[in-house]
Amino acid sequence: MGVSITICSGKGGTGKTTISANLGVALAQLGKEVLILDADIEMANLELILGLEDVKTTLHHVLAGEADISEAIYEGPAGVKVVPAGISLETLKKADPDRLDSVLEALRQVEILLIDAPAGLGRSVLTALSTTQEALLVVNPEISSMSDALKTKIVAKKLGTHVLGAVLNRTTFDSSDLTVKEVEMILETRILAVVPEDPEVRRSAAFGQPFVIRAPNSQAAQAIKKLAADLVGEEYIPPQPKESFMKRLIKGLFGR
Ligand SMILES: Nc1ncnc2c1ncn2[C@@H]1O[C@H](COP(=O)(O)OP(=O)(O)OP(=O)(O)O)[C@@H](O)[C@H]1O
Ligand SMILES: [Mg+2]
Repeated sequence: MGVSITICSGKGGTGKTTISANLGVALAQLGKEVLILDADIEMANLELILGLEDVKTTLHHVLAGEADISEAIYEGPAGVKVVPAGISLETLKKADPDRLDSVLEALRQVEILLIDAPAGLGRSVLTALSTTQEALLVVNPEISSMSDALKTKIVAKKLGTHVLGAVLNRTTFDSSDLTVKEVEMILETRILAVVPEDPEVRRSAAFGQPFVIRAPNSQAAQAIKKLAADLVGEEYIPPQPKESFMKRLIKGLFGR
């Protein structure tokens, strides 16, 4: 049996799908077998930001009893496996959320299963939390994000899910931002990564590419790659800064 992690937040729009996609790809780049499942059955986004929007069979078909889960698994960037939820309203109509737990059960053998949960504490979030071993909160440095994350954390614990910690996403280092210490104190959980507000995140999403591939040296990508390495107990080696033109010239001229 592998490790399963629900990526959740309570509050909408904190960056769950963004973190799921990029963390999944970063873990796959480390050679792990990773499957990301979009459990946001109504408002699926994962396939859009991974450039998989044209796929035929989705989680909707599986939840409608029209396909087997194996038919809805696609290969994404760096070999990450992806189960898109489906963006069509037609297929959504037939999807039965009650089937989600048997789908998740069927994926227990995957080395690392990441579940991109929807906002709120609806049925699919509860199903995801109760079938996975771990929960990873994605929060923003603002008070509304804290109260929703706290509720999610309490529910996760009640369901017997271990809370790994939180990713503090979209930090601007503005004085109005809650600090890492404050967030850790409020949530009583560890911040495992701090991901800055980074224009590359939206840019990459618009191109249907994860930023860990499209902009590997961006601050956001480095934070996610470090998180991936930490999660699997590997050392993260940050990219070396490029030498300046003057340094290269001196090296070329004098060999030092
Ligand atoms: N670190 C970041 N820097 C800049 N933009 C970001 C960052 N993280 C997320 N975003 C942007 O914020 C928006 C919401 O992100 P995302 O869809 O990942 O959130 P979500 O929590 O999955 O939302 P939902 O609750 O609707 O599922 C997107 O437009 C995304 O590009
Ligand atoms: Mg989402």
